[in-house]
Amino acid sequence: MTTIDKTKPVLVTGATGYVAGWLVKKLLDEGITVHAAVRNPNNEKKLAHLNALAAQSKGSIKYFKADLLTDGAYTEAMQGCELVFHTASPFTTDVKDPQKELIEPAEQGTANVLESANQTPSVKRVVVTSSCAAIYTDAIDSQKAPNGTLTEDIWNTTASLDYQPYSYSKTLAEKKAWEMAQKQARWDLITINPCLVLGPPLNPTAVTSESFNILQQLGDGTMKMGAPKIGLGLVDVRDVAEAHYKAGFTPEAKGRYITAAHNTDFLELGKVLLPKYGKQFPLPKKALPKWLLMIVGPMTNKLFTRKFIRNNVNVAWKADNSKIKKELGIDFMPMQQTMEEAFQVMVDNQVLTAKA
Ligand SMILES: NC(=O)c1ccc[n+]([C@@H]2O[C@H](COP(=O)([O-])OP(=O)(O)OC[C@H]3O[C@@H](n4cnc5c(N)ncnc54)[C@H](OP(=O)(O)O)[C@@H]3O)[C@@H](O)[C@H]2O)c1
Repeated sequence: MTTIDKTKPVLVTGATGYVAGWLVKKLLDEGITVHAAVRNPNNEKKLAHLNALAAQSKGSIKYFKADLLTDGAYTEAMQGCELVFHTASPFTTDVKDPQKELIEPAEQGTANVLESANQTPSVKRVVVTSSCAAIYTDAIDSQKAPNGTLTEDIWNTTASLDYQPYSYSKTLAEKKAWEMAQKQARWDLITINPCLVLGPPLNPTAVTSESFNILQQLGDGTMKMGAPKIGLGLVDVRDVAEAHYKAGFTPEAKGRYITAAHNTDFLELGKVLLPKYGKQFPLPKKALPKWLLMIVGPMTNKLFTRKFIRNNVNVAWKADNSKIKKELGIDFMPMQQTMEEAFQVMVDNQVLTAKA
C-alpha cells in the first residue's frame, strides 16, 4: 500500500511524448505540480501544448533537461517527488542501429531513471510505461498462450535484436525495472503495458510516436488497395493516461497492467473510419490476401518480412484486460470514438487532406 501526497511534485519523463501529453494534462487538471523531464526545454514547438495546458489548469509545470543516456540526468528533476512516471523511450520502427537507437535508451535509460529513484529519498512509487510488446511479439504468440489469451503472467520470449527490436527493447527495459525494484524496498514499481495506442494527439504537428505513422498510412492512400489483417490490440491514449494516473495514486495498485481495450486487427482500424471519412479519404476497405503479401510485402516494406506476415496476417490477437478494469476501475472508450477523434485531429491540422 503506497499513498502519494498530491501536494508534492510528480516527475514525468519524456513529457513531450504522445502518451505523456495526456498524462501531464490529467496531472495539471488535478492541480499537481509536474516536473517535466524533456530532452530540449528550448524546443518551443514540442512544449507549446504543455504550456497551454498549464496556463488553463490548477497545476503548474517546471521543465528539466534530461537525456536517458546521461547518467544521473533525472536526479535533479526527481527532487521532492514521491511519484515518478517513466514514459520516455523511443517508439519507432525506422532504425539503422537497433542496439544504439532502441535497446540502449530503453534499457539503460530505465536503469538510469531507477538509479535516480534509489538516490532520491522522497520517491515512494515508480510507474513505468512498458508495453504489450514486453508480453508478445507476433499475434501468433497470443494464440500459443494458455487459453489463446495474453495475460500479465506472460513475457515476450520471441523478440530479438534482429527481429522486432522495439519489442525487444521494451522487454529488456521492463525486466531491468523489475530487477531493480526487487533489490530495494522504499519504492514500489507498477508497469502499464499498453497495446497499440491511438486517439487524438495533443501536439499533432510535432509527433514522433509510431502511432501517427499508422494513422497517416490509413488516411493518405498508402492502403487504398487494402490493408493487412494483422491481429492486434487497440487502446485510446486518454485511457492510457488515466491508467497511469490511477496506477500512481491507487494505494493498492500492484504489478503489471495490460492496458488494451479492444482485441481487433489492422484492417478494422481503417474500416471503422469508413462511415464518416470513406467518401473523402482513400481508406482501406478490404483485406490484402496473405499470399500476395508474402510476394510483395518484403519488397515494399522492410518490416514486412515473410516471418512477420506468416505470424501476424490473418492471425487473431487476444489479451485479458480484466485486471486493470477490476483493480484500477478503467472503463475503456469505444474503438469508433478513438479512431474518429484521432483522424479528425489529423484532418483539422492538415496532417491529412481530403482527396475527393
Ligand atoms: N504509442 C503506442 O502505441 C505505445 C504502445 C505501448 C507502449 N508505448 C510506450 O509509451 C511511451 C511513450 O510513447 P509514445 O507513443 O508517446 O511515443 P513518443 O511520442 O515518441 O514519445 C517518446 C518520448 O520519449 C522521449 N525520448 C526518446 N528518446 C529519448 C532519450 N534518449 N532521452 C530522453 N527522452 C527520450 C521523447 O523525447 P523527445 O520529444 O525529445 O524526442 C518522447 O518524449 C514509450 O515508452 C512507448 O514505448 C507506446
